[in-house]
Amino acid sequence: MIILGIESSCDETGVAVLRDGKIVVDLISSQITVHGRFGGVVPEYASRMQLEAIGHLTEQACREAHIRLQDVDGIAVTIGPGLIGSVLVGLNFAKGIAYAIDKPLIGVDHVQAHLFSPMIEFPDMHFPYVGLVVSGGHTELYTVKDFREIELKGKTVDDAAGEAYDKVSKSLGLGYPGGPVIDNISMQSRIQKKIKFPMALMIKDNYNFSFSGIKTAVIRHIKKIEQPLKQEDTALIALSFQEAVQNVLVKKTIALAEQTGINSIAVSGGVAANSRLRQLFDEYRKSFNVYIPRTGLCTDNGSMIAFLGYQLYRLGRVSNINIDGYANNTRIPEGT
Ligand code: KG4
Ligand code: ZN
Repeated sequence: MIILGIESSCDETGVAVLRDGKIVVDLISSQITVHGRFGGVVPEYASRMQLEAIGHLTEQACREAHIRLQDVDGIAVTIGPGLIGSVLVGLNFAKGIAYAIDKPLIGVDHVQAHLFSPMIEFPDMHFPYVGLVVSGGHTELYTVKDFREIELKGKTVDDAAGEAYDKVSKSLGLGYPGGPVIDNISMQSRIQKKIKFPMALMIKDNYNFSFSGIKTAVIRHIKKIEQPLKQEDTALIALSFQEAVQNVLVKKTIALAEQTGINSIAVSGGVAANSRLRQLFDEYRKSFNVYIPRTGLCTDNGSMIAFLGYQLYRLGRVSNINIDGYANNTRIPEGT
């Protein structure tokens, strides 16, 4: 079965072709250089550039997969959450294809697509697992029993972890996106000491997260020291910030796994590309099966949409052609 996956929720256009749940082609068109100039994603630009990229990318994906559009058995597309202008570009494009070739449309929730995406790279992985989705828009912890049964156990009460990375990076003058650059600086740094940023992050007794406190503390700290920042000051701040954020993410995930007795953990979303997060999870591999896919599957991509679309299709959960997109609430796509 061939599924075309279309992702356009933010500033990346992803188109993938999967055959029986396995990636045949995965293409991505990123707008980072455009938004980088503004220090963050400009929604109006994002949707316009989605529109420019999506047709070419789909053509290219079919060409590289050696298929015609008519060979596709179903079109999976992100229906939210995301920037609504961007979401609607992909959704309307997918509806057009589904209508033209008379094949089912499968609406996919972006966060859920991240949540199941480790299964693409690790097909032997099985349910149940504890899933951490950590990206620029989301920081959420789930228990996952199967494709229809997921339970949200905790989430950020303010900023997403990736959002905090991007804001701290901007304050340090390091540009957008902040995750990779802060990660690089921290990992190259030989500094041993750390600034103790508030661990109020660690909201006790539940699985929620909070990242706005540390973000504000970092910004206050930057204002107090001599400008322009010296290289070693930047490195010390980046390292201390990264250490605090990643430790909380890992500790809460492990705590949920221990409390539920679930011994598999899957991590996904853009921040799952982080080197320190991977190092910290490595320390738990003796007690848990830890699944963190390669970077390209962690950040936004069309394959994860096609993969969950394929699973939903097999469960008979296809969408009505007039399904709506949504900006920010997570919900399971309704079947028709
Ligand atoms: O999943 P994603 O591509 O888009 C959203 O759905 O948000 O995640 C993008 C986020 C950005 O905030 C970016 O700074 C962060 O992922 N990110 C990282 C790393 N690579 C990307 N954060 C920490 N460390 C990284 N290596
Ligand atoms: Zn994402």
